[in-house]
Amino acid sequence: MRAVVLAGGLTFEREVSLRSGRRVADALRGAGVEAELHDADAGLLAYLAESAPDAAFIALHGGPGEDGAVRGVLDLAGVPYAGSAPEACRLAFDKPIAKGLLRAAGVATPEAVTLPHSTFRELGAHAVLDRLLARLPLPLIVKPASGGSALGATVVRDAAALPAAMVHCFSYGDTALVERFVEGAELAVSVVDLDGSPRALPAVEIVPKEGLFDYAARYTAGMTDYYTPARLAEPVLAAAAAAALTAHRVLGLRDLSRTDLIVDATGTPWFLEVNVSPGMTETSMLPMSVAEAGLDLGALCRDLLVRAASRATPPPAGRAP
Ligand SMILES: Nc1ncnc2c1ncn2[C@@H]1O[C@H](COP(=O)(O)OP(=O)(O)OP(=O)(O)O)[C@@H](O)[C@H]1O
Ligand SMILES: [Mg+2]
Repeated sequence: MRAVVLAGGLTFEREVSLRSGRRVADALRGAGVEAELHDADAGLLAYLAESAPDAAFIALHGGPGEDGAVRGVLDLAGVPYAGSAPEACRLAFDKPIAKGLLRAAGVATPEAVTLPHSTFRELGAHAVLDRLLARLPLPLIVKPASGGSALGATVVRDAAALPAAMVHCFSYGDTALVERFVEGAELAVSVVDLDGSPRALPAVEIVPKEGLFDYAARYTAGMTDYYTPARLAEPVLAAAAAAALTAHRVLGLRDLSRTDLIVDATGTPWFLEVNVSPGMTETSMLPMSVAEAGLDLGALCRDLLVRAASRATPPPAGRAP
């Protein structure tokens, strides 16, 4: 098996992606795979044509790596990849769309409103924010409708802080998701599918030492405590696993995903979002769940690549078979 690990890209999460990519490439080599790292840049297609890898592992975070764009290009290039197909990625990448589909499937997700920047310009920021505060109770969280690593996210506990939170959010994306902030325990539930029946791995419970599980808390060693197995009652963990499996199934995801949830005081897991290209760094949750399940990260990634290579590359969407 010769694999290319795609990492880097031009998103705000470039550095995280490079760390994920290096870790996956090392783990794959440890599992007997010839793995090379490559950026998603102008040289990629020439490289793929020249080296013709058996399959690609996508360790790109944010933007084209997660919204389906790079996968669509890999389909065009005839390079199979581990992970979800473009159409499913588009659904998962757009948090409001994913939330709507999950709610329809019976999974709890916090009430929210989606506000493109243009709505503010056209209807007036003050009028819109006044209505929002009248309908959604504080505290709220304002975050980009698609994005990662909590970049652009702010918890709003006081109405006066909402406008600045919106402005900050719009510096990371054109559309803001304003969501009820759920107090509780944060869980990440990874799902892997090695044989056509997706399996939820043990959840990771995330406890930042202070404040939000933000960019610094994610990628600075020691700033967050991770518990796996999570310290929650078995029925709560079963409900969280069921929600993650529902997300994987309802959005049509493939191979691997990671669902982020908050469990409130009543034990209800609230769906926040699902990631199609989960972090693979030293402080990322999917590798922790893999270890807790007694699996080897390199062998898992290798097996997903083998499974990918055995799939025929589909023709581009819209072309007659
Ligand atoms: N409704 C909410 N209630 C409580 N906490 C929240 C809520 N929404 C987000 N958070 C917190 O903010 C963090 C980032 O939110 P979210 O997972 O939606 O976005 P993200 O930036 O895409 O993250 P990732 O890097 O995991 O893809 C969460 O990990 C959680 O700590
Ligand atoms: Mg998240």
